[in-house]
Amino acid sequence: MVKQVVTTICFVLFHCIISYWAFTSSCSIHSSTKIIIPAVARYFGTKGRYEEVNAYLIDDILAINNSLVTLPSSKCSEIHLTAIIRHGTRYPTIKNIQKMREFYDLVVRDATGNLNCLSEIKSQWKMWYTDDMDGRLVDKGREDHRHLAQRLIKWFPSLLTEENVRHGRVKLITSSKHRCVNSTIAFREGLMEGLRIEAELELAVNDALMRYFDQCERFVKEVENNKSALQEVKSFNEGPEMKRVMEKMADRLVVPFASITDDSVEAGFFLCAYEFAIQELNPPWCQLFDEVDAQVMEYAGDLKQYWKRSYGHEINSKSSCILFHDLFHRLDQVVTQINSDGIVSEAVTVQVGHAETLLPLLTLLDLFKDDIPLSSTNFATQHNRIFRSGKIVPYAANLLVVLYKCPEGIRMGVRLNEKSLTLPGLTDPVPMYEDVKKRYRALLEGCDQETVCKINNS
Ligand SMILES: *[C@@H]1O[C@H](CO)[C@@H](O)[C@H](O)[C@H]1NC(C)=O
Ligand SMILES: *[C@@H]1O[C@H](CO)[C@@H](O)[C@H](O)[C@H]1NC(C)=O
Ligand SMILES: *[C@@H]1O[C@H](CO)[C@@H](O)[C@H](O)[C@H]1NC(C)=O
Repeated sequence: MVKQVVTTICFVLFHCIISYWAFTSSCSIHSSTKIIIPAVARYFGTKGRYEEVNAYLIDDILAINNSLVTLPSSKCSEIHLTAIIRHGTRYPTIKNIQKMREFYDLVVRDATGNLNCLSEIKSQWKMWYTDDMDGRLVDKGREDHRHLAQRLIKWFPSLLTEENVRHGRVKLITSSKHRCVNSTIAFREGLMEGLRIEAELELAVNDALMRYFDQCERFVKEVENNKSALQEVKSFNEGPEMKRVMEKMADRLVVPFASITDDSVEAGFFLCAYEFAIQELNPPWCQLFDEVDAQVMEYAGDLKQYWKRSYGHEINSKSSCILFHDLFHRLDQVVTQINSDGIVSEAVTVQVGHAETLLPLLTLLDLFKDDIPLSSTNFATQHNRIFRSGKIVPYAANLLVVLYKCPEGIRMGVRLNEKSLTLPGLTDPVPMYEDVKKRYRALLEGCDQETVCKINNS
């Protein structure tokens, strides 16, 4: 009995020491060169690293993992790839930089808690984000695209070839935003490096395609500029789960609860996420959030994406009709060419845009759709939801649409972030192209951008 108690006490003590050691050591980070991944990194949502989705890349950024992809029979050959890619890792936007600075000032000025990370923030950490960084691509973001290009060469060795580049059969299209243009330039560099060539390859800027959301009048009016369209987000941020995160934050900092807002905990979470994404540091900021806090912050972010870019409002996905038709128009053209002289004029089309470009399109295709909508009151029951923006649209997220020529006809494969997806409503992971077109017939015959985006003035 006594022995048992002693053992238990020893065990508990040991546990405490270990936890304390883990806690303090992860709070002081600058000494180690190996990247320590913050415990909450998988909750960063759209501010998450691509490596969090494909962990094997941490060891080898140029690795491809065939076990994540379903191929058609070996009698098939690849004839076309369209890759729709989000820009790489970027700085925060000016609005968020300002929120981050306010929170930093609050911690430095008012926090009296004695957590190690607080003293580290106060004595060592510097607020180095400046307003002019406003959403620009960072070095890591250039690497994201350079490496993705090199992996795509490995995935599609018969499509991303010197010959196809030299004959203008590889096209690069980008949003006009500097972070996208620079991502596309980095992608091109990766391509040339991977193919060991130097060749002319122009970028085409096309906002009608890559920033269609700005040009869809109805979306802008009904969602983008409409506060009540995001009521669920607001309610969640004023609700009990967020309040608990704010209380815990006030306790950790030892500041009055009234000085903490949902904006300030968001800013603290951004500091945690950006320091990791940009500098690959496990910053002291991350210690201000436990796992449940991070899950609440993730849900707040997912709710926003859901109501602003996805299933929350029908116009969100419909605003991408133009990109949807652009894709299928090109696929049709490839099929026609294969059936006539067999020469495909666009072997690879790369389109670089935003999370806001990808999400509505994925939504239009009915992907990542939970049975029950995400709302301000169902955080707990949505614990296992499939709509997780960190999994769907991290930095450099990519939708890959591949056409294969097979003895039985043309097949189509879809991958998101280098993993095969089965389109909802279809059972074959690499279905016949005709079956895909049947599945989406209503959209192919409708989904007209002009009609959909027009405001019905009464
Ligand atoms: C590839 O992905 C599978 C499934 O996620 C994983 O188990 C495996 O370790 C990965 N392979 C490599 C080489 O990392
Ligand atoms: C884009 O890249 C160029 C060249 O590396 C650099 O001079 C410029 O500042 C970058 N722009 C942005 C917005 O990142
Ligand atoms: C704003 O959004 C709400 C909720 O979706 C909707 O009922 C309302 O019609 C929208 N307002 C405008 C001006 O579109």
